Amino acid sequence: MGKSERAKERREKRLQEISLLRTIPYSDHQKWWSAETIAVVTGGNRGIGFEITRQLAAHGLTVILTSRDPNVGFEAAKVLQEGGLNVFFHQLDVLDQVSIKEFCDWLQQNYGGLDILVNNAAVNFNQGSDNSVEYASQVCTTNYCGTKNMIQALIPLMKPSSVGARIVNVSSRLGRLNGKRNKIEDLNLREQLGNVESLTEETIDGAISSFLKQVEEGTWESGGWPKTFTDYSVSKLAVNTYTRLMAKILSDRPDGQKIYINCYCPGWVKTAMTGYAGNISAEEGADTAVWLALLPDQAITGKFFAERREIRF
Ligand SMILES: NC(=O)c1ccc[n+]([C@@H]2O[C@H](COP(=O)([O-])OP(=O)(O)OC[C@H]3O[C@@H](n4cnc5c(N)ncnc54)[C@H](OP(=O)(O)O)[C@@H]3O)[C@@H](O)[C@H]2O)c1
Repeated sequence: MGKSERAKERREKRLQEISLLRTIPYSDHQKWWSAETIAVVTGGNRGIGFEITRQLAAHGLTVILTSRDPNVGFEAAKVLQEGGLNVFFHQLDVLDQVSIKEFCDWLQQNYGGLDILVNNAAVNFNQGSDNSVEYASQVCTTNYCGTKNMIQALIPLMKPSSVGARIVNVSSRLGRLNGKRNKIEDLNLREQLGNVESLTEETIDGAISSFLKQVEEGTWESGGWPKTFTDYSVSKLAVNTYTRLMAKILSDRPDGQKIYINCYCPGWVKTAMTGYAGNISAEEGADTAVWLALLPDQAITGKFFAERREIRF
C-alpha cells in the first residue's frame, strides 16, 4: 500500500471514530452552554456554515445565522426554525463596514453580545487543477480581512464567562506554513510568520500586500508562493497566522473575560466551493468547528485542528 493510500485509510478510520464520538451526548457536567448562549456564524446560509449553525442549535444554543444575501439567509434560518431550532437571521457582509456596524448594534440590543463567533464566510474561485489568480484580491480580502473585521468588531461584544468566549476560524490545510506541500518558499518570510513571539499584524498584512502586488505585476508565479490554489492558500495562511497572533494578544485578558481562538480545516467537503467534488459531507466538515466551539476544557487557544485533533501549522 502506498503512502497516500495509507493516509486515506487513516483519515477514513478517523472519520468513523468521529461519527461514533458524535453519537455520545455531552454529559450535564460537560455542558457549559444553554439556550442563553449566543453563537454567531458568518456565511451561514449554505454549506459548512449552515451545518455549523444547525449543529450548534441542535446542541441547545441560540444561533445567529448571518448571510450577505438577506433573502437567502432568511430562508435558510426558516428551514432550521421549522425544525424547532433556536436560529435567528441577520444580514451580514463581512466586507461591508456599514453592514458589520448594523449587525453589531442589533446583536448588542437584542442579545447583549455573544459567546461564540464562527468565522466561516470565504470565497475560492479555483477548482480541480485550475490556479487562476484573477480574483486574488477578492479572495484575500474576504477570507483574511473579512475574518479580521469580524474579530475586531465582535471582541468588544463578547460576554464575560468563566469558561471563556470562543472564536473558531474556518481555515484550510492548504494554508499551512510548515506543511509538507504547498508552502511558501521564502525562508525569511516563513520564519517571520512562524515566530509567534515577534509576529505582528503588519507582517501578515505585508505578506498579503506583497502577494497581491506580484499578482498585479504578473510576477507572482516566480514569487515562491504555494503552488496549489495560490490565492486561497495565501489567504488561509494569513487566517492561520492571525489566529495565533490573536491568541497571544488575547491571552492577557483576566479570568472571567478570556477569549479562546482556534482555527481548523474541515477537510475536502462537498459544497458549492468545491463544485460538490469533496469526499465528505458538509455535516462531517462542520464537526470540528462545533466540537471546538463547545470544548468543555478551558485554555485551548492559538491551535490548528482537523478531525478533532491538533495538527501542525
Ligand atoms: N469545501 C471545502 O472543501 C473546504 C475546505 C477547506 C476549507 N473550507 C472553508 O470552509 C468554509 C465554508 O466553505 P463552504 O465549502 O461551505 O463554501 P460555500 O458553500 O461556498 O460557502 C461560503 C459561504 O461564505 C459566504 N460569503 C462569501 N463572501 C462573503 C461575504 N463577503 N460576507 C458574508 N458571507 C460571505 C457565502 O455567501 P453567498 O452564499 O452569499 O456566496 C457562503 O455562505 C470557508 O471558510 C472555506 O474556505 C472549505
